[in-house]
Amino acid sequence: MAAYREFKELSPNASAGAKTMNWLENRFPTAFDAYRVHMSEYYAPKNFNFWYIFGSLALLVLVIQIVTGIFLVMHYKPDAAKAFESVEYIMRDVPWGWLIRYMHSTGASAFFVVVYLHMFRGLLYGSYRKPRELVWIFGCAIFLALMAEAFMGYLLPWGQMSYWGAQVIVNLFSAIPFIGPDLALLIRGDYVVGDATLNRFFSFHVIAVPLVLLGLVVAHLLALHDVGSNNPDGIEIKGPGKPVDDKGHPLDGVPFHPYYTVHDIFGVAIFLFIFSAIIFFAPEFGGYFLEYNNFIPADPLKTPAHIAPVWYFTPFYSMLRAITSEMMYALIACVVLGAGFGVLKARLPGIMKGIVLVAAVVGIVLMLAIDAKFWGVVVMGGAVVILFFLPWLDHSPARSIRYRPDWHKWVYGVFVVNFVILAYLGVQPPSPIGERVSQVGTLFYFGFFLLMPWWSRLGTPKPVPERVTFAAH
Ligand code: HEM
Repeated sequence: MAAYREFKELSPNASAGAKTMNWLENRFPTAFDAYRVHMSEYYAPKNFNFWYIFGSLALLVLVIQIVTGIFLVMHYKPDAAKAFESVEYIMRDVPWGWLIRYMHSTGASAFFVVVYLHMFRGLLYGSYRKPRELVWIFGCAIFLALMAEAFMGYLLPWGQMSYWGAQVIVNLFSAIPFIGPDLALLIRGDYVVGDATLNRFFSFHVIAVPLVLLGLVVAHLLALHDVGSNNPDGIEIKGPGKPVDDKGHPLDGVPFHPYYTVHDIFGVAIFLFIFSAIIFFAPEFGGYFLEYNNFIPADPLKTPAHIAPVWYFTPFYSMLRAITSEMMYALIACVVLGAGFGVLKARLPGIMKGIVLVAAVVGIVLMLAIDAKFWGVVVMGGAVVILFFLPWLDHSPARSIRYRPDWHKWVYGVFVVNFVILAYLGVQPPSPIGERVSQVGTLFYFGFFLLMPWWSRLGTPKPVPERVTFAAH
């Protein structure tokens, strides 16, 4: 039971506004406490920069997607015989339907732009490191949920790309040994993508995944506010020995409201300029946000010449396509090298060395025995799963890129360029040269993370200041 709280009385001369707020606070103190804990008395570091805007923008896009989604559902028909035309009806006949639909389709891409930048900020400033591991893990779970949400949403317009994209991706599950074919059947609800698939994807897209997403976002923010935000210097502003004012508030922090609410409104204004420009002038965005093939109704008898997922999936799609039977030999060589290092060089107890050796042998046997298609799926999934482990892979003495050796910036730079190249190759039709480049890119992507415990320790970090660097402006 909640503790008893005395009703606060105001002077009869208090303003009507103050009296209303006091009436409310006496009856719902939890809401007012939450406002203080998370807004007016949440002290955030005062040196936030450009990179710190994307969290609020992700929240904004989440709201845009939910609100526009509610209006789309009013007119959309989750029925294989009617879905495509119901979207056309929204575009042509529903008042402002075109705007709602373009806001939602552009919102999907905007979500990924904002979230990729938000994640990259985490990488730059080591925001995933102790004590923010859970904030990061909730973030990774959000990313997974977002991918599921976007994938299932893309089937709903029932265009050629919706249909064949879903067909390709669901078929991947059938590559899993033993349970694969049944699992793919369970996901589809039929032997091919059909009405049953559309209905279940609709249900997941509209209610199940959004609920999970919302829950995860709440957990993400509560966990963040429990440990406090990181900042571009990667140093704590709260805790023992940190300077505080006479009320105990950190000297290097400012209350979230009004400082960062205003700061974020500025970011929101710029975002909305760009977002509106795309919606009004280039909603298909050259076929990247809405693929041209998706303006053709789904035809189960006509496979499009080139099936490519939407841009935000393409880095992972490239990694999937990179795993050919030839590439398996390169992967086996990596396992041999890794195990050799574990046994000969790493300071592991004897029993661990034995386990490494046995695991490597079992791994290699499985790699030879199971089709490369399955390992492609493992690599694609692994590319996302590996992000969860980042807090334990980074061993750099300095948290923020600002105080790491300069060459770390180059490593991050190459990582980004590599990711963009993989994204580009994923949109292109397969080609021998594209295949080679994506194989090298896949090895670099995994090398970046798996070798991080080694390379992140190399070099001499710069001196990390005691207080955040901040110039008033
Ligand atoms: C719907 C998606 C998401 C929303 C609405 C969201 C929201 C936020 C907000 C509002 C903040 C505080 C402001 C800021 O630091 O920018 C934040 C911080 C953070 N988020 Fe997210 N986030 C999302 C996805 C993600 C993902 C996918 C990751 C990583 C995989 C992530 C990792 C982090 C980290 C590490 C912080 C702390 C940053 C710091 O203190 O330096 N978030 N998030």
